[in-house]
Amino acid sequence: MVAYRQALVLSPHDAQARMGLDAILERARTPRPNEQLRTLLLEAYADDGANWDAVGWGAASQIVVGWPADDSLQTLANDRLLLEFLRKSLNRDAGLERKLLGLRAAVAQALASGASPEVSALAAALAEQAWLNEYIWPDDATVAGGPAAAMYRSPSEPRPEVVEERRLAAEIPSIAPITDTVSQSVAAMYEANPYPRWTHLPRRPAVDVRAALMRDFPHATAVDFGNRPLAVLMPGAGTGQHPLTVASSYENATVTGVDLSRASLAYGKRMAARHGVGNIEFLQGDILDLPKLGRTFDHAECVGVLHHMADPRAGLRAISSVLRPGAFLRLGLYGEGARTLVVKARRDIEAAGLPATLDGLREFRRKVMTGEWRRLRPLTAWEDFWSASLLRDLCFHVQEHRFTVSRLRAFLDGSGLHFLGFEFNVGASQRSDAGAGPLALYAARFRNDRTLSDLANWEQLEREKSGLFPGYAFVCQKE
Ligand SMILES: C[S@@+](CC[C@H](N)C(=O)[O-])C[C@H]1O[C@@H](n2cnc3c(N)ncnc32)[C@H](O)[C@@H]1O
Repeated sequence: MVAYRQALVLSPHDAQARMGLDAILERARTPRPNEQLRTLLLEAYADDGANWDAVGWGAASQIVVGWPADDSLQTLANDRLLLEFLRKSLNRDAGLERKLLGLRAAVAQALASGASPEVSALAAALAEQAWLNEYIWPDDATVAGGPAAAMYRSPSEPRPEVVEERRLAAEIPSIAPITDTVSQSVAAMYEANPYPRWTHLPRRPAVDVRAALMRDFPHATAVDFGNRPLAVLMPGAGTGQHPLTVASSYENATVTGVDLSRASLAYGKRMAARHGVGNIEFLQGDILDLPKLGRTFDHAECVGVLHHMADPRAGLRAISSVLRPGAFLRLGLYGEGARTLVVKARRDIEAAGLPATLDGLREFRRKVMTGEWRRLRPLTAWEDFWSASLLRDLCFHVQEHRFTVSRLRAFLDGSGLHFLGFEFNVGASQRSDAGAGPLALYAARFRNDRTLSDLANWEQLEREKSGLFPGYAFVCQKE
């Protein structure tokens, strides 16, 4: 921690040091408040290249251990770390949520009788948190209006960023009208709830992605694409978080983000302007219609998307058809094993007839968090439990397929793509899993395959060892 901090003092924009420090702050826990840690957390919140999602875990823990025994409103209103956390990190801690609900009620009461400027600032920070979690916390009908209402529900006047997104949405070019019926209902879902609603673009070290993938998968075919910018396709670009990370960190690249949802793309467009990322364009349309673009791409990344299509194989083929030979495709798909709990949740939701509305989501959370639906309680450990769009995506999706390695084999068959291997720690500097994870397990078990890429072997390993895959992240190459 001290070494990374020192590196940042010497070079405030060093991405590697920022990432290293944030990874430590994410895990930092102390039994009592720790001043040094709080200072580092506040510095992270002052740096808009920091990863506020990661830092939020450390901050939440410091806030909990430092919470005043008498719940003093004045003490909490003067807690800078609490204010920064509420404005910038989505809370993902059930214990802290309970405390914050009590605090919100106390602030609402104080506002009704004329609060101090500090308490008003705390109310504004709680309203920001409500905006971040998309009003997923329980409402309170007794708080009918006035300044307190913004902590409970969406303001009647749209926020400036929403107005801006509506304007940007109208400007986004379309590939073709969406005709597939599943795509239409998926589009409607993400028009109402762009996913995810992200707040910051963490600084990343520059990367030559093809060179990095050739290092990770030395058995890939080396193809020289020359020095022109790498044309990167991001199908299912969503709200642009992943595409903007790619556009701002991949060396010499231009990015094309395609998505069904104009509202999602408009969010991405606004964020691109805010972060000064110019090498990106957004197009609205169905992955199935990619061939209609009449363009080819050198690289593609598509995470969390194809399992939401009626026919994921058709989606894969459409992407493959616009890739140049030798292009890499990075994919992320749901795993059957990893989502057992979500499958149970989806069944319970259906049986109880809970709608995918804000009220339905709140009721679902109430049942899970109070223990009424005890077996689903472990869902609170999932990152996507904590805001309306995240939770809707996690448990209320209109269309979801789940894969196994065996299904992956059929999925890739005939797609014109060659499977290169799984990624277990995307974003880390190496593909290694430090000798203990699935790659090491495979290497020890199948000594005659140094490429770690035989899907028949992986299928066998998956049968032998449950819980091997947290979902499937993998890389293919266009033949
Ligand atoms: C779970 S979100 C993932 C967004 C983004 N890839 C990410 O990882 O944050 C799924 C996205 O895929 C888009 N999507 C689903 N089916 C699609 C299709 N057939 N064509 C284009 N986009 C699609 C949705 O509109 C949604 O924005």
